[in-house]
Amino acid sequence: MRVNNAKLYGQEGLWDITIQGDLIQTITPANPNEKTTENEIDVNGKIVLPPYVEPHIHLDYALTAGTPRWNQSGSVFEGIEIWSERKQVLKETKEDIKKRALRAVHMQLKHGVQYVRTHADVSDPTLTGLKALLEVKEEVKPWMDIQIVALPQEGLYTKPEGEELLEKALQMGADAVGGIPHYEATREDGVKSVKKAIELALTYDKMVDIHCDEIDDAQSRYLEVLAAEALKSGLGNRVTASHTTAMATYEDAYTYKLFQTLKKADINFVALPKANLHLQGRFDGYPKRRGITRVKELLEEGLNVSFGLDSIVDPWYPLGDGNLMSVLDTGLHACHMTSYDEIVTALQLITTNGAKTLGIESEYGVKEGNKANMIVIDSDSEYEAVRCQSPVIYSIRNGEIMVETKPAETSLNIPNLF
Ligand code: FE2
Repeated sequence: MRVNNAKLYGQEGLWDITIQGDLIQTITPANPNEKTTENEIDVNGKIVLPPYVEPHIHLDYALTAGTPRWNQSGSVFEGIEIWSERKQVLKETKEDIKKRALRAVHMQLKHGVQYVRTHADVSDPTLTGLKALLEVKEEVKPWMDIQIVALPQEGLYTKPEGEELLEKALQMGADAVGGIPHYEATREDGVKSVKKAIELALTYDKMVDIHCDEIDDAQSRYLEVLAAEALKSGLGNRVTASHTTAMATYEDAYTYKLFQTLKKADINFVALPKANLHLQGRFDGYPKRRGITRVKELLEEGLNVSFGLDSIVDPWYPLGDGNLMSVLDTGLHACHMTSYDEIVTALQLITTNGAKTLGIESEYGVKEGNKANMIVIDSDSEYEAVRCQSPVIYSIRNGEIMVETKPAETSLNIPNLF
């Protein structure tokens, strides 16, 4: 198999990518005289890049919005209430959850996503959601790599069995420890939950990914605790802070101090622009806060930030179809990241930066010797790809074309005006 005349993301010139079995064998300058034969594709100068990485989604919640009721306030807290009610009322089986999660996986695959970190709710004593996602992870391996974060969605210390369930989830095979400190009843419990997550990560050799300060409260300061603990424990870049929307409300003087710890700790950040534009600012009059963490400033300080979708039609966010290019578009607008340089490098936010968060950089990328996993997008320019939200025309996995999309063709039946 060979992919001919590829423009490699961020590089000049055209290249031929030769694939042997499931590995990239060679990447050589394209030969314009060579004809494309059977079992080869000519991508005609279109951009080839590693597959999109979804660093934060909730596959166990996918496609549940409206059951048993819609989120009327649009807030994070009503979302959690509805989810808790839903579990009591519907009592879904493992198979029900798997079916929904797999439908969401299909959506993601169509949009060129091949690497996913999903959270799994481990507040439910039966751990049915986690069991479902552990099976989904195994079943979809030929097409997608999934990591699972054990998330005590309803708080770690709001129920006596919280800690035990979280630990059990790690023993069952979750890849990372989660937390939701801003939802605990007190500041002390929030701090305790972050420390517990770090302690469990060390004990079970797991990563950490915390829903951290997803609230418009300038006093919500669990990020400083998470960063300090990541630094002290040596876990560093195995730790991720998701959301951190309170940072948009912190005073600059405090944030300056906070950034010193963040830089030393070298943790990852995941921003969820669509979900948080929707969820935050719900208790504000005008002006309404955007509720997006300081993506631009974090990147400028050399910290790793990626964008994720968070939800596909669930009690927290009623839209979403797995398309990260659309998330990128929203995020660039919301974060004022629309300078030329920010636009031409933007695809890193849904590719390499996400791979770094997942800790898979060593195996990720269109490079000789790596797994032949890549996508081709319908554009020959990084700038235009972002501007037009160019679709993925091929998603190649282990050397085989897994997804192929024919872009829509539009005819304008008027004379040429320019
Ligand atoms: Fe989330």
